[in-house]
Amino acid sequence: MTTPATLMEIATRMPKAELHLHLEGTLEPELAFELAARNGVGLRFSSVEELRRAYDFDDLQSFLDVYYETAEVLRTRQDFYELTAAYLRRASADGVTHVEPFFDPQTHTARGVEFGEVVSGIVSALRDGAAEHGITWRLIMCFLRDQPAADAMATLQAALPYRDVIAGVGLDSAEVGNPPEAFVEVYTRAREEGFAAVAHAGEEGTADDVRRTLDLLGVARIEHGVHAMDDPALVERLARDRVPLTVCPLSNVKLRVYETLAEHPLRRMLDAGIMATVNSDDPAYFGGYVAENYRACIRELGLSRDDLRTLARNSFEASFLPAAEKAAHLAHVEAFFSAMEA
Ligand code: ADE
Ligand code: ZN
Repeated sequence: MTTPATLMEIATRMPKAELHLHLEGTLEPELAFELAARNGVGLRFSSVEELRRAYDFDDLQSFLDVYYETAEVLRTRQDFYELTAAYLRRASADGVTHVEPFFDPQTHTARGVEFGEVVSGIVSALRDGAAEHGITWRLIMCFLRDQPAADAMATLQAALPYRDVIAGVGLDSAEVGNPPEAFVEVYTRAREEGFAAVAHAGEEGTADDVRRTLDLLGVARIEHGVHAMDDPALVERLARDRVPLTVCPLSNVKLRVYETLAEHPLRRMLDAGIMATVNSDDPAYFGGYVAENYRACIRELGLSRDDLRTLARNSFEASFLPAAEKAAHLAHVEAFFSAMEA
């Protein structure tokens, strides 16, 4: 008989991929203050505690306001290196063996930080993390959907020399009022250039936003997608076509998409045969890194050991790794669960 404590241990230790993680959202208040001091950037908060107290959000926009403000402390290649390295240490402790992190280039280039400085800091930490922790990676850059599509196109142009280290494009920031239609041209171009495509949809938006994001942007995965559950025909399509949804349970509660985790649809997604994955989104702001997201779902949604195994498998199957690397990661999942049964 598996005790709840053992399930918690499995959730923490099982090999897993994290596919929905904003590097800027891993900026812990302590590091924010350190970088603010180093770079001579003023923060309107007087202490780490005061900044942490501001992490009480009503919705996505109230979070984004703090997230973009705090991101202003990130200036140099070294800052992006330290941010990414700190995330990888935490991820490794949480059993993460593959990561496909996002970054928001426009948040930094709009302040005069060079695109290449951002990328080279992140990539050099990812390379060191692969050597130190054995974490494989694919990097995804997100366009800000509340900025003009022309800026997204310029960002895509800036990324072309970095095609060897940027695997894909995404779309984030305020969803309501910024539908996918404006980004058709930039996504078409990005896919022609060989980038994988993902996009946030159905976080605060509707099931119809999810459907149009799939149809218009040609994405391989939907980030969040929780509101797809409002439309049975779409649920059937997602399950049939094995479209991965990168679900972020603690994020959805912090941003009040659901008032409590007990109301979260993850359990229903799995029951409907949807390829859901569990992720942390912006863990410095939302009260938990990826393993804590799994543990909270065990407590509140009653996830079983079989659910954990399915979610671990889904996380690698939904990744952009080539088949042989996927198979190697999946073999580690199977070995882990077999050892648990022995
Ligand atoms: N940027 C960072 N986190 C985000 C989220 N959860 N939704 C949209 N944009 C984001
Ligand atoms: Zn996100």
